[in-house]
Amino acid sequence: MLTPLAIGCATARTLRVQTRSGRVSVGSDQLALLAAGGQALTLLVGEGLVEPIILVSGYDGYIALGSTCTHLGCRVRPGRGAIICPCHGSTYNLQGAVTRGPAQRALTRYPVSIDSHGGISVVLSPEAAEGSE
Ligand code: FES
Repeated sequence: MLTPLAIGCATARTLRVQTRSGRVSVGSDQLALLAAGGQALTLLVGEGLVEPIILVSGYDGYIALGSTCTHLGCRVRPGRGAIICPCHGSTYNLQGAVTRGPAQRALTRYPVSIDSHGGISVVLSPEAAEGSE
């Protein structure tokens, strides 16, 4: 289980990415910025992405979450230690689990793998969603 770094900023960093062979790659230099800020990072929509992806840095790795609220589909945003839906107030923790409704299901989670250069790849096929808390 990931233990997220403290999220100390209300706004996420953003990064434009390109998909390639069903994956998004994030280089080690970009990951260093994420780790330094202790923030969630939103990857903007690029061709082939069905939604922006929120990349969360933890002590033992990264998780990639979809940004579509599981209540009625609004775009969620990283906030202070949480992921927040602006439409009806649902909140999620940094693992994507629901911490306050009306949403009932966790955010979509995408598999993340580490590449040989210290960067990561996000596979654009969602994993089974985790349950809400
Ligand atoms: Fe997110 Fe309703 S769409 S709480």
